[in-house]
Amino acid sequence: MSDLSSDLYYDPYDYAIDANPHPVWKRMRDEAPVYYNEKYDFYAFSRFEDVMEASLDAKTYSSAYGTVIELMTDEPGDSPLMIFQDAPKHTQLRKLVSRAFSPRQVGKLEGNVRKLARGYLDPLVGSGGFDYLQDFGAKLPVMVISTLLGIPEEDREQVREWTDALLHREEDKPGGDHTHAEVSEQLWGYYARYVDKRRKAPKDDMISLLMQAELELADGTKRRLDNTELLAFIGLLSAAGNETVARFLGWACTLLDRHPEQRAMLAANPAAIPKAVEEILRYEAPSPVQGRRTTREVERHGVVIPEKAKITLLTASAGRDEREYPDADRFDVTRKIDRHVTLGYGTHFCLGASLARLEARVALEETLSRFPEWEVVWDEIEWVHTSTVRGYDKVPIRL
Ligand code: HEM
Repeated sequence: MSDLSSDLYYDPYDYAIDANPHPVWKRMRDEAPVYYNEKYDFYAFSRFEDVMEASLDAKTYSSAYGTVIELMTDEPGDSPLMIFQDAPKHTQLRKLVSRAFSPRQVGKLEGNVRKLARGYLDPLVGSGGFDYLQDFGAKLPVMVISTLLGIPEEDREQVREWTDALLHREEDKPGGDHTHAEVSEQLWGYYARYVDKRRKAPKDDMISLLMQAELELADGTKRRLDNTELLAFIGLLSAAGNETVARFLGWACTLLDRHPEQRAMLAANPAAIPKAVEEILRYEAPSPVQGRRTTREVERHGVVIPEKAKITLLTASAGRDEREYPDADRFDVTRKIDRHVTLGYGTHFCLGASLARLEARVALEETLSRFPEWEVVWDEIEWVHTSTVRGYDKVPIRL
């Protein structure tokens, strides 16, 4: 296999490639389905079938070394974050929270999500334009998570501002700066006090329920989560649920601007929005790269991959694989999609999938009912550059 194709180069840190990785990913799928990057020492799976199979085989493709390639450890870690765990610990933690994220439970949040979306969009009616992400798309998911956690209403805006400040990264300071450390301390100090408060006076919110839930250990014994584990869970929800939904909404806004006839169809027929959400997810995956480490030697497409090798599953490339989707580079909100891997697959399938779909649908319904047309100001658009999400940070639009 031509994984050593001399002029074929991919890494998720290269801003120029990140601006439009699709041509590179297409070449990887065609010429080097098991691509090896020497500089960062990782393999990449780019075809749908390979991403899917590896996602389903968590025994061979482990998450326990971490799933962000630059943060992976040499030995399996003992993270309190279930996304960085394999069975049985992953299963135990996931069991605790899966009910709270079931389609039924999440469905109960629809009224709240809609109220939040309306609160942001109503004041913008009649304006000449706004920033679809800064004024709406990045705010909504943070407030939804706060609502879910039971953060008191009067504190939510402050929590959102801190979270926002932490998400913002300067290009030359990818690790954050002094201000980030202070904001982080304030936010985590707040959450720690909040957890303490709920221990003393539980309510009917997710954190109180998690405090009472019992973790079933492999030896049959049971125990409750400690504060570190609870805080880790808040951190996971905030990290996994905020940036991804914000990026999704940036893609939705720009893709519909590029395809005004499809936007008009959705504005006239909101019942078609859920299908459109799946097409947007397939077409531009907000979380394009999932990391794993092999637990044994494997051979794929003629390439022998050693034990403990770093693997990247390119879920965003899988969404454009012609082997799975006919005419894959065509954006079509009426496309029939049976499955995609943008929300992961297998044991680590996105815990927040129902919530993400709810937020996406409600956000688009509320947007299109007020603003059936808009024009993206392309030369003022700004990107977010991290190795875990891909998309825009600022999307100014004119109405
Ligand atoms: C469009 C929005 C979203 C996208 C594209 C997305 C994508 C993903 C992907 C690809 C994974 C699998 C990671 C892996 O295999 O290593 C995942 C897992 C996860 N997601 Fe999402 N996500 C979204 C929204 C959310 C939301 C709103 C929440 C929570 C409120 C959330 C919480 C999680 C959690 C906790 C996991 C880990 C699950 C586990 O390890 O079992 N996500 N997500």
